[in-house]
Amino acid sequence: MDTPPANTAPSPVPAHVAIIMDGNGRWARQRGQPRHKGHRRGAQSVKDTVKACIRHRVGHLTLFAFSSENWKRPPREVGLLMELLLSAISDEIRELADNGVRLRFIGERDAVPANVRRAMAAAEARTATNAKLILTIAISYGGRWDITQAARQLARQAAAGALVAEEITEQAFAARIATADMPAPDLFIRTGGERRISNFLLWQLA
Ligand code: FPP
Repeated sequence: MDTPPANTAPSPVPAHVAIIMDGNGRWARQRGQPRHKGHRRGAQSVKDTVKACIRHRVGHLTLFAFSSENWKRPPREVGLLMELLLSAISDEIRELADNGVRLRFIGERDAVPANVRRAMAAAEARTATNAKLILTIAISYGGRWDITQAARQLARQAAAGALVAEEITEQAFAARIATADMPAPDLFIRTGGERRISNFLLWQLA
């Protein structure tokens, strides 16, 4: 009997969904509410998105929660966003952990307030062995920062004599970006409606 041809059709389910969570301010303004109400509503939408990813067996979900540029927003809005991130982590960590979600954070951690940084590290440690969904939250993240930090790692290794210039290949670079061990996103969503990558996963979305 003939062997049926191998199924080479691409999977209809993306392996990695990446989302820029913007439009919160506009959502609030349209309803005559302050911007932070929009951010709060955005945080609720994260829960629905995580559940949908688990249901459809999406392996990776990466969310842009706070960009390198967001530090330039008014201090009050920055403070409210940090509080929102902190409360989202502490309110949701148990359910995430119980549902097999591994939480990871990418971005420039030194810029993040110490209490938020501690909550991030604790959430990562608590969910480190989960693998149903890898939920990566980009905080104080920028695609340019990511490329720069990868270049800095390569430069350090070259200066130490561990690497020669010819070994700086795309693969060597890709191995040092913040999402090195993940597949590239195959579905990119920007909730605010623009069609630009802005400063999100520049290398990864190329
Ligand atoms: C940018 O668009 C959005 C942000 C700076 C904040 C996004 C953060 C959250 C939704 C917080 C919750 C995150 C997690 C992971 C629980 P904008 O809202 O300024 O919108 P605009 O494009 O209407 O100005």
